Amino acid sequence: MTKFSKSSILALFLGALLMTSCNDDDTVAATPEKPSIYARLGGTTLVADPDNAGQMIEQGRLSYRKVVNTTVGLIVADVQNGASGNLGAHFAPVLGEVGAGNTTNLGILVDNLTDFFSFNTGGTNPVNTYSGLDMVNAHNPATNPRMGVKSTNANYDKFVGYVGAAAVQNGVPANSELFTDVVAVLESLRAPIVQQ
Ligand code: HEM
Repeated sequence: MTKFSKSSILALFLGALLMTSCNDDDTVAATPEKPSIYARLGGTTLVADPDNAGQMIEQGRLSYRKVVNTTVGLIVADVQNGASGNLGAHFAPVLGEVGAGNTTNLGILVDNLTDFFSFNTGGTNPVNTYSGLDMVNAHNPATNPRMGVKSTNANYDKFVGYVGAAAVQNGVPANSELFTDVVAVLESLRAPIVQQ
């Protein structure tokens, strides 16, 4: 009788342990997912577009467009200053046009980059639909004559540095989780873009 009681108690104890660990699993499974990068940059909330009077724009898209414009400005400044490791050779076609006063294709590039980043980080409304080339073809001069020369790892590091600096300039703190998540997305695209 005593023996039976002991094993019953042990069974009860083990059962309780098992239930506790099941509950723990349920708790983990129920942890809410982190919002997308697009959502954390302002998401689909419509705001007045500062560059187009009378138009509205999703805040997430506006955040990306600002970062893209700042990135372009940083690339151009380094080319103009002759900074070491600048990306003048890669962007020569578009920079030549801009130098001659034609900004049409620069506008298309900014739009395509904004679509690309927005759509691929959670901004999937039709306004962000990307209609450009895939990353391999976009960065191969043989399939995209607008790409002056192929990119090396060092060129890629430089580019990621510009985007990171542009994000900081537009209010994403460098030591934040959001910043780390943006850099991780950029890193995930290194293999198709670096082609030499
Ligand atoms: C995360 C990294 C990058 C992303 C997401 C990215 C994305 C893009 C996208 C979406 C386009 C437009 C393609 C089209 O319109 O069909 C593009 C074009 C281009 N990219 Fe990148 N890119 C990255 C890195 C780089 C790097 C490292 C370089 C050079 C070192 C570079 C140079 C160019 C050039 C020269 C063009 C063509 C510009 C033009 O149309 O005038 N990109 N890129």
